[in-house]
Amino acid sequence: MNGLLLLCLLLYVGGQRSSACQQPCSCQGSAVNCSSRSLTSSSLPTSFPVGTTHLHLHSNLLTSLPNGLLDGLPSLRSVTLHNNSWVCDCGVLYLRAWLLRQPTTSVSHHGVKCSSPPELRGRLVVYLTEEEVLESCHYWYCDLALASQVCLFVFVVVQAALLVALLVFLKRFERLSKEARRTAEESFTAGEGPGENSYTSLKGDIN
Ligand SMILES: *[C@@H]1O[C@H](CO)[C@@H](O)[C@H](O)[C@H]1NC(C)=O
Repeated sequence: MNGLLLLCLLLYVGGQRSSACQQPCSCQGSAVNCSSRSLTSSSLPTSFPVGTTHLHLHSNLLTSLPNGLLDGLPSLRSVTLHNNSWVCDCGVLYLRAWLLRQPTTSVSHHGVKCSSPPELRGRLVVYLTEEEVLESCHYWYCDLALASQVCLFVFVVVQAALLVALLVFLKRFERLSKEARRTAEESFTAGEGPGENSYTSLKGDIN
């Protein structure tokens, strides 16, 4: 019974939290006002009340919208995003895709402009082509892939060099051991030789 009560309380608190107004925004009914609060992409609340209908995010320092931030808000009717410092690289793809999904009347597309990179400054985010966005992207994973390819190449070359060195060493070892065996045989027969010689010469002396 107590456990059930605790569970209900936890659910209640959890429910409260997800629908509560997040600092530093202010809420009036289903309208959430986060405008003019010097919010950056990292200080922006990570979620908004599920029933939010109007969301004001304009006049902040936002450079990108975290992926999925505006998903899961079924009642959302308007979002203001103008007057921010949108960076139009890979990070803008979510914002651009979200804007493209909206009916033009629900949101003011016209204020959502790139502030960087320089070649895209002043451009409307919604009208950026995918190529333009991707061109300005820094593909760190491509660099990583290239670096790993180079590492792999170097690794293979080193392996090949080691293998060649090993083969050369084995060849030389084989030759040396063959030589050693031959000299051992030679010295053995040579050692027998003089014995025999001395024996025969001894025999000769006796005779
Ligand atoms: C939203 O908040 C800002 C900053 O506190 C305020 O200036 C503005 O009037 C508010 N807008 C609305 C629609 O409440």
